[in-house]
Amino acid sequence: MTAIPTIRMNDGHSIPQLGIGIWQIDEAAVPGVVASATDLGFRLIDGAFIYGNEAGMGEGIRQSGIARDELFVTSKVWNSEQGYDKARKAIEASLSRIGVDYLDLALIHWPCPEKNLYIETWKALIDARADGQLRSIGVSNFNPDHLDRVIDATGVVPAVNQIEINPSFQNPAVRLANEKRNVLTQAWTPLGNGKNFNSEAIRLVCERTGKSAPQVILRWHIQLGHSVIPRSTRPEHLAMNLDIFDFALSDAEMAAIAALEAGERCGPDPQAFEVE
Ligand SMILES: NC(=O)c1ccc[n+]([C@@H]2O[C@H](COP(=O)([O-])OP(=O)(O)OC[C@H]3O[C@@H](n4cnc5c(N)ncnc54)[C@H](OP(=O)(O)O)[C@@H]3O)[C@@H](O)[C@H]2O)c1
Repeated sequence: MTAIPTIRMNDGHSIPQLGIGIWQIDEAAVPGVVASATDLGFRLIDGAFIYGNEAGMGEGIRQSGIARDELFVTSKVWNSEQGYDKARKAIEASLSRIGVDYLDLALIHWPCPEKNLYIETWKALIDARADGQLRSIGVSNFNPDHLDRVIDATGVVPAVNQIEINPSFQNPAVRLANEKRNVLTQAWTPLGNGKNFNSEAIRLVCERTGKSAPQVILRWHIQLGHSVIPRSTRPEHLAMNLDIFDFALSDAEMAAIAALEAGERCGPDPQAFEVE
């Protein structure tokens, strides 16, 4: 079984560098996906209340037969649940739906700057961690100024900032801001909707290594040093996504992929996204 490297976060806990995401997977299909993924060796499952499949995630965890303390379970507080009291209740509800006593990581899903509740929400995560409901706490889609506001208000630095990163949208400014603050970057939509699967920079590495475009892109993420959570419902794709630790991209290949940056997001702009 492939051993997935772990990364030590700023709070001392470790997180697998590679995991699976379960956005847009039907609740009924999630237990099977989690079982396939854990059989292959994945241990990190990235969920969220808004994905509507937390109960399926819990079912998959139980069916996997993997000890709870060997898994890394993430969920996120949705926009409509921001504010201290609502966020505390949202965390309890996620724990209850998943059927676990604690989450390894809880994130504020989006900052929602207009709503301006993310500092209160962050305080709720800090207290839920103190109460043992959460091991690590972090944020998602936070720009540098959002990070600074929560840090300045509470003195608590998020362990993780989960942001969009793929070859067409490499998010260098936020990655650098995370690094400067000792916040681990985690990449969402890491495959970038396949936009770069046929680009020359990727294709040349595929030809040299015999690996597929998704594997080359995931390897690029690994070599950038962040955590990454590709989604797949297919066991053969899950296996492929795990099989990225027996080859390496050269500096020139990393640079060629860096040059694919196009500033094209797959998802929304965090400064403007306020959807409930
Ligand atoms: N925090 C946030 O705001 C946020 C936003 C978006 C996503 N996320 C998280 O990040 C996770 C990953 O992002 P994502 O789901 O948007 O996209 P993704 O992981 O970049 O791509 C998923 C797509 O790639 C395909 N795929 C995966 N492995 C493949 C392979 N080896 N070969 C060919 N196709 C492959 C999947 O299809 P098949 O199922 O057919 O393999 C699926 O259509 C999410 O599931 C979620 O947990 C977080």
